[in-house]
Amino acid sequence: MNLDAKDSGHCQWQSPSNIALVKYWGKKHEQIPCNPSISFTLKNAQTTTSLEWERKDVPSSSDVDFTFYFHGQEKESFRQRIQKYLNRMAEEIPLLLNYRLTISSENTFPHSSGIASSASAMNALAAALIDMERQITISIPSEETKQSKFDQRISRLSRLGSGSACRSNYANAALWGQCSYPGSSDAYAVGLGTILHPVFQQYKDAILLVDQGEKKVSSSAGHQLMVGNPYGDVRYQEARKNTENLLEILKSGDLDAFTTLVEAEAMTLHALMMASSPGYILMHPNTLIIIQAIQGYRKDTGIPVCFTLDAGPNVHLLYPDHHKDPVKKFIQDELISYCVDRQWIDDEMGSGSRKLK
Ligand code: DP6
Repeated sequence: MNLDAKDSGHCQWQSPSNIALVKYWGKKHEQIPCNPSISFTLKNAQTTTSLEWERKDVPSSSDVDFTFYFHGQEKESFRQRIQKYLNRMAEEIPLLLNYRLTISSENTFPHSSGIASSASAMNALAAALIDMERQITISIPSEETKQSKFDQRISRLSRLGSGSACRSNYANAALWGQCSYPGSSDAYAVGLGTILHPVFQQYKDAILLVDQGEKKVSSSAGHQLMVGNPYGDVRYQEARKNTENLLEILKSGDLDAFTTLVEAEAMTLHALMMASSPGYILMHPNTLIIIQAIQGYRKDTGIPVCFTLDAGPNVHLLYPDHHKDPVKKFIQDELISYCVDRQWIDDEMGSGSRKLK
C-alpha cells in the first residue's frame, strides 16, 4: 500500500483534442450519442492538467472540494461546470470526497479558438482522477490494471464531462458509438489506430483560424437543438451509414471516398444547425472562401486535400503527410490571408493521452 499517496500526492496528464470526421451531433442523457462518430486524434492541440490531492480531516458530504487554475489563474467561469463534473465523478470514485483537490490546467492553443478544448480538458482531468484513485487505493480489480480497460475507463469518465472527450485518449483515430465494429459502445470510444491504411499514418490537419471569438452557440446548446429537428432521424441513419463506410475507407486508403464522405459530414453538420429552430449560421464569409479554395486546389493539382468543420467558422484542412510541402505553400500563398491575424495551427495525428513524469 502506498501510504504517502493516501495522505497527499499528485500527477500530471496531457491529452489532445480530436477532430471528428463523422460528427457526433445529437445526444441523450449523459452524452449518450444519437449516432456513432469517428475522429482523428491531434498532436499539438493539447491540455496539460496537474492534479494535487490532500486528505481532509472531515470528508465532504456532497460537493468535492477543489480549486481550479487555468493558466495559473483561478477561473470562476469554469467553476460550476467542474464542480458538477467532480460531483458526478464522486459517484464513480467515492474517495474524492475525502480529499481537497488542486487542479491546474493549461492549453497549448487559445481558448475559444474553435478547437474543442472541452475534449482535451475533460480527457486529461478524467485520466488524472483515475490515476489518483489508482495511487491511493489498493482494491483495484486486476482487470482495471490492463491497459485496454484503463483506456476504456478514461474514455467513459471523460464522456461524462463532454461527449467528444471520450475519443481523445486513443492514438491516431477513435470510434465512439455502437455499430458493427467489434467492441464498439455508446459508453466509451475504442481506438482505431491499428486498422488504418498507411496513407492515413501521420495525416495532417491544418487548423485555419477564421475567427477566435466566443462560440455563437455552445456544443451543448447545439446538441439540444437536434431535439425536434425535422431532419434528426434521417441524419442519425445517414451518420450510421457513414460510420460503416468510413471504417472501410480507413482500411482501404481510398482518398476520393474519404474526401466525399468527410466533406459531406461537415456540410451536413452546418446544414443541421441552419435547419434548427432557431437556426444558426456558424460559417463566416471567409469560411466559404477557404472551402472553395480548397476544392479548387484539389481539382487543379490532384492533391487529395479535403476540409472538415467543427460547430464554428474555422476550417480543418486534412491531407496526407507526403504532400505537406506543396500544401503548406498553398496555405501560405492562398489561405492565410483569410485567417484572423493570418493564424493557423499546423497539426497532425497524434498518440493520445499520456502521463507526464
Ligand atoms: C461538432 O463533445 O463538445 O465537435 O457532449 O455537450 O460536451 P458535449 O458536446 P461536444 O460536441 C462536439 C460536437 C462536434 C462534433 C464532434 O466532435 O463529434
